[in-house]
Amino acid sequence: MEKLITDDALYHKIDEIIAMHGASKHNLLAILLEVQEINPNHYISKDEVIYISKKLDTHVSNVFNVMSFYSALSDKPKGRYVIQICNSTCCKVSKYEKLQEMIEKELKIKVGETTSDGMFSLEYSSCFGACDISPAIKIGHEVYGMLDQLKLKRIIESYRGN
Ligand code: FES
Repeated sequence: MEKLITDDALYHKIDEIIAMHGASKHNLLAILLEVQEINPNHYISKDEVIYISKKLDTHVSNVFNVMSFYSALSDKPKGRYVIQICNSTCCKVSKYEKLQEMIEKELKIKVGETTSDGMFSLEYSSCFGACDISPAIKIGHEVYGMLDQLKLKRIIESYRGN
């Protein structure tokens, strides 16, 4: 999988995130979410969990508990691009399952998996406010809706080309 930043740079950024939020266990969730965001593989490694627990002066089990409680946090590497399929009410009504089938067929993976080239992971998401174009997907900060096979193919190709 492609590494966009070195470990040193990553730990430096973790220090910055902790400094910004304040080194307190009360800020743990916000810190973890941001650390995951800057990780090129969208997860938090065991070493990073240990590092954060030391920095916040809290037991490592507290950090692992938060990691396992919040589904938005992952302890496993994900693809460079995470495709989130909304399965909340509006997208349910608009039959997100069909869109999911198209994506799974296009990427040859199921929800919860990562493509063998490490480019894409597929996961469910709760509503991210794109109900008017449901069923919708989100890739990074970009939201797409009302997709047919061709539009979907083009979007995925555009990410492959990056
Ligand atoms: S319900 Fe899917 S984006 Fe709102």
